[in-house]
Amino acid sequence: MDFGMKNRLSRIIKPKTGKTVMLAVDHGYFQGPTTGLRDIKKTISPLVSHADCLFITRGMLRTSINPGTETAICLRVSGGPSILGELSNEDITTSMEEALRLNASGVGMSIFVGQENEDRTISNLGRLVNIAERYNMPVLAITAIGRDMARDARYLGLACRIAAETGARMVKTYYCEDFYKVVEGCPVPVVMAGGKKIPEKEALQMTANAVKEGASGVDMGRNIFQSDSPIGMIKAIKAVVHRGASVDEAYEIYNKSKK
Ligand code: 5RP
Repeated sequence: MDFGMKNRLSRIIKPKTGKTVMLAVDHGYFQGPTTGLRDIKKTISPLVSHADCLFITRGMLRTSINPGTETAICLRVSGGPSILGELSNEDITTSMEEALRLNASGVGMSIFVGQENEDRTISNLGRLVNIAERYNMPVLAITAIGRDMARDARYLGLACRIAAETGARMVKTYYCEDFYKVVEGCPVPVVMAGGKKIPEKEALQMTANAVKEGASGVDMGRNIFQSDSPIGMIKAIKAVVHRGASVDEAYEIYNKSKK
């Protein structure tokens, strides 16, 4: 692997632990002003320095993030449909030049395996990888799940493997039973998305399970920024991911911060 690619990946996945805590705040690209991200600058500013990497669109990066940040940036580069349309109808919306200008350490896009536009989103991933590899820019593929799709190891394993086969350097997917099977079949690092907001202790348990089963960390949004203590939650997630803290210890970190 070339220096540039390795260097960018080590900005995202910390070489000391081989893990990452990515903070996902890209939800507005199809959901608009989501709960917790209405005033993105206000909510996210205190969290940025706690994250290893921020997963964000170029618009929010330009308007709402301090350019002096030392946190790595992974840029969401796909989009198109809103929550009112057909979500799988995505295309690439942000160029590689823009990602380089913004000093991104990675770019990310969604694929919609088993859904309408499956083939086009996977081809788009291939095209993005073709361009990104020219500049040693790692591509993170996100396995988007339609409302009717089964969240099981068979389906997520299929989607993650296709992402890796198409050239993604990292894959983001959701937690499921037998998550280790998803990781086993995917030769590039897998990070877990948090999904809908659940009670804090459950989110910590899910994170601990995912890491134990081979995840390289998280790219988590709502379970952090919609928490009643986003700072407490990101600190607790970090303790689980980077230090292997127990769920009880991490929950204590969250609780203390809340007080
Ligand atoms: C949306 C995304 C999000 O970044 C991803 O789902 C992580 O956020 P959350 O933890 O809230 O699920 O890719 O398409």
